[in-house]
Parts: sequence; structure tokens; C-alpha cells
Amino acid sequence: MVVFGGTGDLAFRKLYPAIYNLNLTGLLPEDFALVSVGRRDKTTSELRVEAEESILKFAGEQIRDQKIIKETIDRFYYFKNDFYDNEGYKKLGTFLSELDKKYGTLGNRIFYLAVAPEHFGPVVERIDGAGLISHGEGSWQRVVIEKPFGRDLESAKQLNKAITRVFDEDHIYRIDHYLGKEMLQNIMVIRFANTLFEALWNNKYIDHIQITSSEMVGVENRGGYYEGSGALRDMVQNHMLQLLMLTAMEPPVNLDTQSVRDEKVKVLKALTPMTPDEVARNVVRGQYGPGHDPIDHKEVLGYRSEARVSKDSDTETYVAMKVMVNNIRWAGVPFYLRTGKRMPCRTTEIAIQFSKPPEILYFKEFQNLQSDLLVIKIQPREGAFLQFNAKRPGTRGEIVPVAMDFCQNCEIGSVSADAYERLLYDVLRGDSTLFTRWDEVEHSWKFIDGIADAWAMEQPDFPNYRAGDWGPERARELIENDKRIWRDVCDYY
Ligand code: BG6
Repeated sequence: MVVFGGTGDLAFRKLYPAIYNLNLTGLLPEDFALVSVGRRDKTTSELRVEAEESILKFAGEQIRDQKIIKETIDRFYYFKNDFYDNEGYKKLGTFLSELDKKYGTLGNRIFYLAVAPEHFGPVVERIDGAGLISHGEGSWQRVVIEKPFGRDLESAKQLNKAITRVFDEDHIYRIDHYLGKEMLQNIMVIRFANTLFEALWNNKYIDHIQITSSEMVGVENRGGYYEGSGALRDMVQNHMLQLLMLTAMEPPVNLDTQSVRDEKVKVLKALTPMTPDEVARNVVRGQYGPGHDPIDHKEVLGYRSEARVSKDSDTETYVAMKVMVNNIRWAGVPFYLRTGKRMPCRTTEIAIQFSKPPEILYFKEFQNLQSDLLVIKIQPREGAFLQFNAKRPGTRGEIVPVAMDFCQNCEIGSVSADAYERLLYDVLRGDSTLFTRWDEVEHSWKFIDGIADAWAMEQPDFPNYRAGDWGPERARELIENDKRIWRDVCDYY
């Protein structure tokens, strides 16, 4: 595995710890070696020391086994190269051939692009220019690309053109780390392996769906990147739409890569296009002002005062929207999506609100009959929560909501693998099901561009929510105008 940007934050926080965890669980192939490519001066021994530190710090709740740590970092190498130095890529090729002899890697390579997006195209072009791709002869080469894949449809197309000049679609792994989360994979199982749910999963029985991904953190030290992105491009274009696709898609004919991706992309095609009118009615953007951290109640800065953020920035840190999936299954069922930074708690979940039962017979006299509710909890709790009505014990026959609550990561020792661990394992195995295919990217940008274009025509009134609150007032109105309310999603455990 050749990691471009191998001395960056992502490599140390996510990739190296994930490789250690794969080794710990016996999933790392024996003939594996890693070359970290970076612009800085560094020796292989220095890289190994730093990689060890990062494994100790970030390898999650897995045990730290010194022997396995050593065994892992002993396969790490450092190669200094400027991303634009053509000659350097040839030397890299020679170095990789030497490692092939040592590790028996046969010329098989994973090129991991953990670099800023503007370097994606140029790096791929130079990899090919230096003859590091066999083009199907004898060995395989895969490329892993971090987000963002473009910043609109046009730039995504350009980028895709540059990459597909070198790699076939089958060898391109576009990362959306949400797809590696344990519960995202469970959405399909919960839906399709249970008669109970699948039979009701349509507009006859479901009133609406709420998809929430809230974060407590602000923009942290990523102001430079975030200014050009905002919540729409940073979270909605990828993670939120993935959650929507998995919730709304039709059952695939089987679970192979193409069949699953085919069904997902049909959901994007069925979304009501975002015209300016549609955006004005059904999309709300927000930006946090100064406020308080919900945990320690300390004062926190507003977005415009964060590092590398413009003092009059129009970048949104919150988005809420109502979208309709126009097909036979979902006609008339709104999907409410919301995501934001500096919210009261960190939660990602999908809430399926079933229709109200008809108020007939003896139920009539009881107020507040609740609708049944299924919540697929993605993080921090992983599990499923089902609420339904039952009779309160006693003589009056009162009806109360009761719940079944399954939590799969509550028990000590039941830690799910980190998303990167799962995704890297899939790249090693050559399974791209949990990665984004080009047409998914294309259709998601078409949808997102409609919103971004409409927003570009108007100046927002920012900041419009206090750090630590649930977004702007208009987001509340968006759902309350439909006589529904946002769920209280915080887990108080
Ligand atoms: C990333 C975004 O893709 O996802 C970040 O760039 C965001 O802004 C992060 O914080 C959220 O991921 P997670 O796994 O913490 O929910």
C-alpha cells in the first residue's frame, strides 16, 4: 500500500491504527508492506516511531499488543517525494520493485490518496507516467480516493476523467467512511432480513422519516477546508445521501457490488430536483454564532471567529431539508434530513415514524396515542429502538408507549471495528461494494448543485443559531409546518 500524504493527519489518526487492528485480528495479509510518501524529510525509522505513537493513541479500544505493533510498523517504509516530481515517481517504482522481492507482493498495489483534492488528478497521472500501472497485465493496482470528490458536478467530472484515464472503474475506491460504519451495513440486514419491517417499509405504513447527523464539535482546525465546503458539501452530498439511499432503496437482486449500487443510485434519480423554489421552501441553512459547549458549558466561539474563517463568511455549518423520493414505494412520504456542527449532542440516526393507527373503537377516548417508531442508531450508540403501544397495567385500560431497545455496543468489550478498518480490509480483498460508484457521485452532485446554485443567488442572514442549540428557527418551522416535530435524538445514558 502506497499512501500519498502518508505523514498527514488522516494517515496517523486513521490508516495506521486501522492497519494495526487488522493485523491484530489476523486480517492483514502476510505479504503486506506500506510505503508512506510525503514531502517532508523523514527516515523510515522516524516514520515507524511516529506510527507506533499514533497506534498507541488512536487504535480505539482494542488491546495494545507490543509484539503486533512492532510486527506492523516493521512493514512501514518512508519515501520522500514531491507530488509533482516526475523523476521521483520512477524512483518510487524502483523502490516498490525491491519491496516486491522482499514481501512477495508481485507488483500488486493499493495507491491511497490521502492528499488535498487538487493533487488527486496530478498524482494519478504521474503514477501512470512512471509506469507504475500494469493495465491488467499480471498484477493489479487499485486507487483509494478520499473525499471530497469534486466540489460540484463539473469539477467531479473533470476529476473522474483524470482518474479513469488511468484506472478502470472497478479499481477505483471512492471513500465515504460512513459506509464502513457497522450500523450502516446493518440497515440492509434490518430491512431485508425481517418480514416484520420490510412488509411495512412503504408509504402505506410510514408517515415520514427523519435522518439526523449532529456533531457537538465546531469546525475545529479545518476552517481552511470548510470555508470552501460547508455542511452541504461536507456532510449532505456524501454521508447524508448515503443514509438516505440505504433507507429508501429497493431490495437488490443480490448482494453483489453492482446490484447494491444499482439500487442505491435509483433513489438519487427519484429525488425531486432542487429548483430555486424548492430550495426556498424545503431547504434551510444555518451558521453557528457564539454560544456554549453543551457539556462543560464553557463559552465557545462563533464560526466567523474560528481560525482560517472569513469574518463575514457565508459558509453554512447546518443544513436541514425535506426531500421526496418520487417512486411507488415512497410517494407522499417526506424524508427530513438535518446535520450540523455545534449541536447539543453527537448523534447519527434514522428514525422511521410509522403512520398513526386509525382512532376507532375503544382507542378513541385515549389522548396521545403515539405512532410506532423504529430508530436505527448509528452512533454513538449502535442498535435499534422500537416503540409501540401497550396497555398500562391496571383497571383503566390506559395506553402507553413502550419500547424494545437493542444496543450492540453497550456491553463492555463489544467494540465495533472502526470504519477505516473495515474499508481498508475491503480494498485489500478487492470488494468495492462499500465505496461510491461514479454514477452515485454524479447524481448526488446534480442534486446538491441545485441547492448550492440557489443559495449563491441570496445572501444568508448569518449567524442564525447559537452554538449548542438545535440550528436555526426556520429548521423547526420546516417540519412543524407539516404538523410534525424533530425528534429529541440525544441519548441520555
Ligand atoms: C467528515 C467531515 O467526512 O465526517 C467532518 O469532513 C465530520 O466535518 C465527519 O466531522 C463526521 O464523521 P463521524 O464519523 O465523526 O460522524
